Amino acid sequence: MATINGNYNNLAAGYLFPEIAKRAKAFLEKNPGIQIMRLGIGDTTHPLPKELIARMKEGVEKLAHKETYTGYADNSFGMARLRKAIADRYRGWGCPIHDTDIFVSDGAKPDSANIQSIFGLNNVVAVQDPAYPVYVDSNVIAGRGGTWDGIRYAGLVYMPCTEENGFFPALPDKKVDLIYICSPNNPTGAVATKEQLKAFVDYAIANKAVIIFDAAYAAYISDPSLPKSIFQIKGATSCALEINSFSKEAGFTGVRLGWTVVPQELAAEDAVPGKIQTLWMRRQNTMFNGASNIAQEGGIAALSPEGSKGCKAVIDYYMNNARIIKQGLEKIGIKVFGGINAPYIWLQTPGKMDSWQFFDKLLTETHVVGTPGVGFGPNGQGYFRLSAFGHTENVQKAVESVQKNLKI
Ligand code: MLT
Repeated sequence: MATINGNYNNLAAGYLFPEIAKRAKAFLEKNPGIQIMRLGIGDTTHPLPKELIARMKEGVEKLAHKETYTGYADNSFGMARLRKAIADRYRGWGCPIHDTDIFVSDGAKPDSANIQSIFGLNNVVAVQDPAYPVYVDSNVIAGRGGTWDGIRYAGLVYMPCTEENGFFPALPDKKVDLIYICSPNNPTGAVATKEQLKAFVDYAIANKAVIIFDAAYAAYISDPSLPKSIFQIKGATSCALEINSFSKEAGFTGVRLGWTVVPQELAAEDAVPGKIQTLWMRRQNTMFNGASNIAQEGGIAALSPEGSKGCKAVIDYYMNNARIIKQGLEKIGIKVFGGINAPYIWLQTPGKMDSWQFFDKLLTETHVVGTPGVGFGPNGQGYFRLSAFGHTENVQKAVESVQKNLKI
């Protein structure tokens, strides 16, 4: 008799973004003809820079000829040229990263869900609260969640990110083994300083913990004093791995391409340096056949001097949207955070209203869709996330509608 993985029954609710889409659809069915404005999911909307398109077309063309056709790669870790281009970027920031530490993938989301599978089930997991839901859900599915009391999982350690601590957590108050940190942060838009990351690196080294650092929004950092990688912190290669993506940097949310850096030096309680890297290699070789060769050509173009200029122009475009949202909301007295070195605006709901109630209010009164903060964790209650991805004219319309129609 077949049975299911019962841990799925322990998941709190539907995945956040399909739930939002469902509610928006229900609203449209009840109110036909209304144009809703979507500042919910962080999904790119701008056409790709021409250098990336040209290189991907070349990639397609290669598949059209016997002489240049390629099928499966020799391994699932990515083209050597792409791994080198990614590692070069880290080395340019002074990080001691080798080409062979880079594992190209089809995106940061699958990597951030899958990475936990190479660690023991009895590891205690710490997450920022609020956090990107994949970290919690993937660990619950694996069986590390413990009981759900309707708000929290008893088996996880929540590190509160609040207005008081600038949305970056204090060190865990008990011993933990795996620590998820996302900076620039989704959802709060806060960016960790070097000093803040150093404290976590020191903690991880002292406790033989591993930091899983999600840097998917690093390209949105414009303040040169802020770290774009945890490997800019001395000692981090022995206690951290890093996940990143071309999704938000190069507009590849649909193309699909990302990478994880698993340094050779990374060690754990029962893993000498090299072991964790070997496990990830083994996991990927068994369960993944490599990213699309067309996407990888695009990734190489995105990291070239011309390509990265094109990507930067698109990032500037989204960050102008962020400014419009931030200033537009501040004008009507809403308290907003983030949106300076990150494409997310984290706002305090008026009167700290329940996040889902505010979702309904915003949708009904202004026809704007956003993301309820509580969907990212209990400390997101009373907060709400707006995304800066979108066409500026739509973002402007959305902000004007909030200014005009939101009853606060
Ligand atoms: C988000 O809106 O949080 C992101 O788009 C989700 C993702 O990158 O998977």
